[in-house]
Amino acid sequence: MSEGPVKFLLSERDIPTRWINLLGEIPGQPLPPLSPRTLEPAGPADLTPIFPMGLIEQEVSSQPEIEIPAPVLEAYRLWRPTPLYRAHRLERELGTPAHIYYKYEGVSPSGSHKPNTAVAQAYENARAGAKRLCTETGAGQWGSSLAFACSLFGLECEVFMVGSSYDQKPYRRSMMQTWGASVHRSPSTLTESGRAQQAHPTGSLGIAISEAVEVAASRDDTNYALGSVLNHVLLHQTVIGQEATLQMQLAGEQPDVVIGCVGGGSNFAGLAFPFMRAQLRGEAQTRFLAAEPSACPTLTRGEFRYDYGDTGGLTPLMAMYTLGHDFVPPPVHAGGLRYHGDAPMLCALVRAGLIEARAYRQNETFEAAVRFARSEGIIPAPEPAHAIRAVIEEAEAAREAGEQRVILFGLCGHGNFDLAAYDAYLAGELEDPEFSEQELSDALARLPEAPAIA
Ligand SMILES: Cc1ncc(COP(=O)(O)O)c(C=O)c1O
Repeated sequence: MSEGPVKFLLSERDIPTRWINLLGEIPGQPLPPLSPRTLEPAGPADLTPIFPMGLIEQEVSSQPEIEIPAPVLEAYRLWRPTPLYRAHRLERELGTPAHIYYKYEGVSPSGSHKPNTAVAQAYENARAGAKRLCTETGAGQWGSSLAFACSLFGLECEVFMVGSSYDQKPYRRSMMQTWGASVHRSPSTLTESGRAQQAHPTGSLGIAISEAVEVAASRDDTNYALGSVLNHVLLHQTVIGQEATLQMQLAGEQPDVVIGCVGGGSNFAGLAFPFMRAQLRGEAQTRFLAAEPSACPTLTRGEFRYDYGDTGGLTPLMAMYTLGHDFVPPPVHAGGLRYHGDAPMLCALVRAGLIEARAYRQNETFEAAVRFARSEGIIPAPEPAHAIRAVIEEAEAAREAGEQRVILFGLCGHGNFDLAAYDAYLAGELEDPEFSEQELSDALARLPEAPAIA
């Protein structure tokens, strides 16, 4: 059978040397973050206690491209470029005329896209003289990626791990410790923010972020690192989409639709933004589809408002779709998607109608993941299982319409440490928690009195 290549591979010479920055090209007025103290636009002074200047500059830059520092490029060479696959076997299984491609980030040392930003952040912090980084982790993917990156640049690493993930994924903790990090179950009793949230023992990303920010703000030798949401994190992830652009050229096709899962928005943006830039410049016609959990449906049911990035209200307020900063999502296994808000840049594009969003229940995403594993081999992390669910819908729609649609999606991590979740699914024990209207209106009623957005 000759169906053409399965893998589209680049050489180390093809690793992008610049990150792509969409901040200056997003339609509409950019809405600045607000200081949590004054509710006025936040300036560098609001960020310097926890971030190094190199990252603050990247956060606010509107330059269309930013050069990747040589030590970061050298670290990228440990796992980049990552492969692009054509999912011939899944296509056959679905009986679809669609061509399905996936960009696989699970080949990184920690098994996901997260090291793309972790090494860039560790490098900038080490360059600025920080000795330690403190962070939160939901799925355990970000914490392990930062632990790995800190070990490359000689930094200590302290991680607050969301309680439900800490219990579900003990080996993620072992990985972080192997790379030299110390790990606490969140909510912990080590911080004021953690002590105030003991009534929510499963924890949430919002609570863990408050704990990590509190530690970073109270220690001169410690900075904070965030694995998603912020402009500079999305920026770092654009190596994914730049490589995918070259690889799609090797395949001789252009994607009609680009699909990714969204927790805070970084893997989605990393894959989509280089294609989105072509779209915004009138050079391509592409649809963009973001997949999220119905248990934490930020883009599909949240409100576009100013809100804090964390539960305790310590971070600047950002204009984003939010379910309310103190919303504690049910402990679904896609721990990386349990976040109340989303990246402001991504939200602005959803609001402008350039990205469509869909929400999926836990069981239907695992059903899609198992189908994928049984045809393509790779066991996906529960987060990209949401993207796979959306891909299957698109491929089936292409079959109904008799169209040869080209689908590109982000397989942003493997699920080799998520087997407890697969066990629960295979045993028929997974629940499908939904987000109620009452929860939404209660959470929104507790939002801070920030300026209304027109
Ligand atoms: C494998 C994986 N995918 C997706 C996410 C969600 O984050 P983001 O939306 O920033 O890619 C996470 C976050 O922890 C993750 O670990």
